[in-house]
Amino acid sequence: MNFLELTKSRYSCRSYQQKDVEQEKLDYIMECVRMAPSAVNRQPWLFRIVRDEEERRLLAECYNREWFTTAPAYIIACVLHREEWVRSDGKAHGNIDVAIAVEHLCLAATEQGLATCWVCNFDTQKCRDAFGMSEDVEPAVLIPIGYAADSVKEKARKPMEEIVKG
Ligand SMILES: Cc1cc2nc3c(=O)[nH]c(=O)nc-3n(C[C@H](O)[C@H](O)[C@H](O)COP(=O)(O)O)c2cc1C
Repeated sequence: MNFLELTKSRYSCRSYQQKDVEQEKLDYIMECVRMAPSAVNRQPWLFRIVRDEEERRLLAECYNREWFTTAPAYIIACVLHREEWVRSDGKAHGNIDVAIAVEHLCLAATEQGLATCWVCNFDTQKCRDAFGMSEDVEPAVLIPIGYAADSVKEKARKPMEEIVKG
């Protein structure tokens, strides 16, 4: 699979099989995450893997969607605000860094035959409380991961002429 094919195969999966994710695959995916670039190489991130029953239940309470509960595992991608690079005009770059790492995660998972979905529309305070995170740790993205029970959909994307100029 070349890179374009990989990007077209990744999609937001909202239905997962019961089957567990193999530890070796998870290790491989997290190594791809570790290689992600970040501003001033600060790597201002922390990834919390959620697999056991009680933690899965707690996480499901942060994002109340039936489909979300079907995933066998989740990764909570957090920004460590104390470690992020802040530009001289005040713009903090931790969220950009974590976004890059999360897309590494999603593409690596796709390559391994797994499916994922970015989830940002969750209750971050509930998540902080449930997982004992301090105020400078921002849970930014929840990523359910597992074997898909649905399949890749048509990509609705803006035309090239609209997004590329010059
Ligand atoms: C930053 C970000 C936040 C997202 N948050 C959610 C979310 O909270 N819930 C959800 O179901 N999908 C979420 N998505 C998935 C998008 O809806 C999806 O990527 C988009 O519709 C394109 O579809 P595709 O991923 O299948 O190509 C999010 C995606 C991104 C990049």
